Amino acid sequence: MDNVTYACQGEIAIATIDNPPVNALSLGVRAGLMDAIERAGADPGVKALVIIGGGKTFVAGADINDFGKPYAEPSLYTIIDALAACAKPVVAAIHGMALGGGLELALACHWRIAAPGAKIGQPEVKLGLMPGGHGTQWWLRLAGPEAALEVATSGNPVGVEAAHKMGMVDKLADGDLLAGALEFARQLAAEGRGKRDIDALSAGLKNVDSQLFADFRKKNERKWRGLLAPQKIVDCLEASCHLTFQQGAALEKAAFQECERSPQSRALIHLFFAEREAAKVAGLSPTIKAAPVASAGVIGAGTMGSGIAMALANAGIAVTLLDLSEAAVSRGMEAIRKNYATSVARGSLSPAAADKTQALITASSSYADLAAADLIIEAVFEDMAVKEEVFRQLDAVAKPGAILGTNTSTLDIDRIAAATARPESVIGMHFFSPANVMKLLEIVRGAKTSDTVIATTMATARKLGKIAVLAGNAEGFIGNRILGAYGDQADFLLDEGALPWQIDRVLQDFGFAMGLYAMRDMAGLDVIWRIRQQQAAKRLPGERYSPIADRICEQGWFGQKSGRGYYRYEGRAATPDPEIEALIEAASAQLGITRKPIADEEALMRILCAMVNEGARILDEGVAQRASDIDVVYAYGYGFPAYRGGPMFWAEQYGLDKIYEAVCAYQRAHGDWWRPSALLAAAAKGKKRWPD
Ligand code: COA
Repeated sequence: MDNVTYACQGEIAIATIDNPPVNALSLGVRAGLMDAIERAGADPGVKALVIIGGGKTFVAGADINDFGKPYAEPSLYTIIDALAACAKPVVAAIHGMALGGGLELALACHWRIAAPGAKIGQPEVKLGLMPGGHGTQWWLRLAGPEAALEVATSGNPVGVEAAHKMGMVDKLADGDLLAGALEFARQLAAEGRGKRDIDALSAGLKNVDSQLFADFRKKNERKWRGLLAPQKIVDCLEASCHLTFQQGAALEKAAFQECERSPQSRALIHLFFAEREAAKVAGLSPTIKAAPVASAGVIGAGTMGSGIAMALANAGIAVTLLDLSEAAVSRGMEAIRKNYATSVARGSLSPAAADKTQALITASSSYADLAAADLIIEAVFEDMAVKEEVFRQLDAVAKPGAILGTNTSTLDIDRIAAATARPESVIGMHFFSPANVMKLLEIVRGAKTSDTVIATTMATARKLGKIAVLAGNAEGFIGNRILGAYGDQADFLLDEGALPWQIDRVLQDFGFAMGLYAMRDMAGLDVIWRIRQQQAAKRLPGERYSPIADRICEQGWFGQKSGRGYYRYEGRAATPDPEIEALIEAASAQLGITRKPIADEEALMRILCAMVNEGARILDEGVAQRASDIDVVYAYGYGFPAYRGGPMFWAEQYGLDKIYEAVCAYQRAHGDWWRPSALLAAAAKGKKRWPD
């Protein structure tokens, strides 16, 4: 078979999986494995079989493209049955990753040996699925219920040393993996060691206290809000403690199929591919290579600048953190020190690793110290004049070819670039706060940004562990422009009769991590207020404008930091505020609007339609490369429920024709703010899909 080669070394047969890049279990691999198992079983000269991955990994799972489609035989289950029936020892030799179906294949092999640095895991939950292929049953019996719960519901991989201690891996290879596996197989064959006694392994499970599962559900209640797969995993693990292996496996299979059929899984699989697609830049010549980035500078030692410095240092890049005031840079360095100390206290970082990473960050208050940096990121106050001045200074000191990044969330990249004599080196890098934690990075290309600078910035983002999305230079780029549109729509709902806590509840019930108004309060209302004041002159006569946000700021209420905003705060706890209700009612009266109750359904649809219509405009204007990039931005940076796939995917599932009709109806009822995007109109009348 093409994807599996079969060979023998003495009395040991070797099946090598060859399906780059990750040896996913596509049909060719499954058929090749079946063939190898049957051949080894039937050949009297073969005493044992080793299954190993070619290339950089063992097997990263089922082929994700196959989910939701009829399964062609041989399925993974057929292979598992064949392995169970095989009378000769079968050893899985693991390097790189054994994930999902790949791990289940290894678990169905009778024994496992692994190379140092290898990882095993059950990431299915991240795709809205639960482990299939008996994964839950093996974890329960080999590693115990605590480990089974943690691994299957988090989806995070486990290092092979830990997996060995748990009993999931039988042997660690200390030299060449294949040589170690062959020796292990010879030894097993010589000793006549058969398979594990599953009944003996199951015996201890009967005494597992069901409180363990209740506590685990309670602990994760908030995190799993609205999600199907983790609940199914816990239910299956709990019930399996009182079942035989085969009964538990049947329960697992039924639950897996339920997850596979769910819209949540379709949405999360869409995001898996969307995330990888976002890394690709259309039209970039394949000859363009990313330049190395070994050292960096960050200008501005506030929350954002310090976070960016940590993100860079965490990726092993030496950083100079610069602020003109020494007090500011000391505050930034202190914040960084505290952040690493917290990670050490939590146990997520060893003291030695924290020291090593922190040592990569050097404080400075002189631009001259940035002269050797490959990449310099500005993170100063969001004001054009301030940023232009920073870039003039950078132009004077940065070495030729250095990338000059600006962490603006709204400003015109081309104007910032024009402050330098090298606009081709300037690029937007819109981080999300906290920058060392949040996954999303919007990378904004200016009119003159060079292809090499784009390629290098995208590659650096990947090195930082970020999910980068390339955006065009239009006000608000992708994320904040859509936020502006649906934020306006939510404000109009307040004008007409809704209250902030109703809107927030509706959004959270839909699955948003946080309500819009609670989010504004957390970010601080004064910054957006200042931007609104700057934009006031651009507002067209007769353009609809809600005065509520301005009225709140005029009271000196700037959100959480001042104890009052859309809500009243005690610490971080928000409560609805009757004074805000009165302020909103007064604003409606001033606008001449008679307030009336707004149904939750209407509030939700108006907000989502506003997002989608603006998303379509962004796509039409080329600000986003593809609809799925907008989904990635919203799922990773703006709290849109990932299990709904992002706003553009959600809209396709809901029906682009229905969205278009709703937008047209809103336009008739509420005026031209709701003018439908030409792309939405075309897609609604055509294939009802966004263009590829
Ligand atoms: N099925 C199909 N394609 C897969 C795949 C799978 N299980 N796993 C990875 N790929 C594809 C990716 O889509 C990507 O394709 P592209 O180059 O056309 O964009 C390519 O393989 C490389 O993947 P990428 O994620 O960019 O590589 P990486 O080295 O950063 O990460 C993994 C490798 C294995 C850690 C990561 O791909 C992963 O987590 N895969 C999913 C594993 C999983 O969920 N398995 C459970 C399924 S049962």
